[in-house]
Amino acid sequence: MIEQQIQYNKVIINAVPVKITRNENPAAIEIKFDIKFETPTGLHIKIGPKTIEEILAELKSKGLVYKTKAAEEALPAILNAYYRENKMIIKSELETPGFYLENDKIVSYKTDQKEATQDEIKQCADLLNDLSNRYNRKEIFATVVKWALIAPFSYVLKQMQHDDRWLPWLYFHGWTNTGKTTTGRIALAVWRKNKDRKKHDIGFASVDNIARFGRAVCYNTYPILINEVQLNDERQKQLVEALKHAVQSQTARARLSTKSTAEFIAALSPCILTSNPAPPEDPAFQRRIIPIHYSTDDEPSAEERARFNTFLKDNIDKLGTFGDFAVNYILNNQETIFTKSDWKDIATELLKAFFKAAEKEVPAWIYDFVQESQVQDIAEEQEQIIRGFLTKVVNETYTRNYRALTSSADQAHENNDFENRLLFCLDKDLISFLKRKSTGEVLIMHDIVKEMKAQRINHISNLAELGRRLQSEVKATKLGGNTVRLVAIPIQKFIDFVLPPLS
Ligand SMILES: Nc1ncnc2c1ncn2[C@@H]1O[C@H](COP(=O)(O)OP(=O)(O)OP(=O)(O)O)[C@@H](O)[C@H]1O
Ligand SMILES: [Mg+2]
Repeated sequence: MIEQQIQYNKVIINAVPVKITRNENPAAIEIKFDIKFETPTGLHIKIGPKTIEEILAELKSKGLVYKTKAAEEALPAILNAYYRENKMIIKSELETPGFYLENDKIVSYKTDQKEATQDEIKQCADLLNDLSNRYNRKEIFATVVKWALIAPFSYVLKQMQHDDRWLPWLYFHGWTNTGKTTTGRIALAVWRKNKDRKKHDIGFASVDNIARFGRAVCYNTYPILINEVQLNDERQKQLVEALKHAVQSQTARARLSTKSTAEFIAALSPCILTSNPAPPEDPAFQRRIIPIHYSTDDEPSAEERARFNTFLKDNIDKLGTFGDFAVNYILNNQETIFTKSDWKDIATELLKAFFKAAEKEVPAWIYDFVQESQVQDIAEEQEQIIRGFLTKVVNETYTRNYRALTSSADQAHENNDFENRLLFCLDKDLISFLKRKSTGEVLIMHDIVKEMKAQRINHISNLAELGRRLQSEVKATKLGGNTVRLVAIPIQKFIDFVLPPLS
């Protein structure tokens, strides 16, 4: 029946398929085929694995397609005929380990979870309770543990294509040295991925454009920790869009494999993002993350850190048992995922089952979950930190220099309110990143960002960010013959920011 399609006076494609392999891959959005063609001269051409469109495009580029429209109908028809007559080789070539939905069942591919022993389960349950006690804010630990449990199944949730069943990504931000990265690694340790610094515990540089990001999230369905992300930069607008898309959709990006056809990169892994600056305020982005803000109060003392590090080093590997239990439970109680619409409820049920399996009391912390700290509160705290920095710089510079640079007569009439201290520092040009313009404006130079970082104020990543907080713009300004980008702000506005008038 197939031969009828190739009549030389009506040639559509000047080559016939002699061997067809269909690559089944639950992670792929499209089916790909490997096809061996034979031309009338007996030449064999192998094309694939590619989609039908890509195969047609390659045949065209080889000049073998005589009637494009007809070919676009004929090739799928030939493939269907092969499939119907069981002449097609079916190959499942999933290279990306993880959990997938296949024919309404959750299946695992090349995953490395094992059967946990009773003793391992007991030890891991004790470890979870112990870890929770080492968190001042227990709701953070509870949230991260629950998220970690569901993380490798986030692709399954997306394959379900319910509008609201996707897993939001974790976004730790705020003060430095507060445990953001460490808590992310604890989530990875549940899946024994905390030591994989190539694919699972990575820096922003590995994902700072859409191509790299697409590559990073399509290795497997296990979670990824991305440290020090910089998403507030204008240049990252497209990447922010790609992230938003990947949280909900099965695809991370579409790449043009040929002029006319796009190749879809699967968004398999959910991500934990950490940064010092706050996440993009874009409401659509905020809706797709669980922002957890770390403030200066969350910084553990040096002793606490030392104790915590020792404890973690000796015990973190035990967390793998939790992942083992979770996989076993979910694969054998699949209705848990199908019937519960909220992923948090699935995680709570899993935690309860785990402590029951450990024959231990179900601890109260498993019911905790972070309250979203209002964006407003965070902004206020961060402004307070900037005010503190500016006040300290002006006061210390004034105190250090006033006596040396003034006469006793001046000192007799000293008026040291903040405005005068500021004016003194500006007029004597004592602060490298604060200048005075003839117009009376205060000029804030770029190196203030470096000075702030030196004081561990990392949430201001650039001058534009600071300008935004002072509601002033960065402008290119002529200074001593050079054009420099700086923030120009009327002195009263500067003073009102540092010392907000009491309302
Ligand atoms: N709950 C905790 N109790 C005590 N020490 C902790 C806790 N969590 C983390 N630490 C310790 O605090 C230190 C800083 O942690 P980490 O590197 O995760 O901070 P971070 O918030 O990622 O910092 P940065 O913003 O600079 O990246 C580490 O030594 C870590 O082990
Ligand atoms: Mg960190």
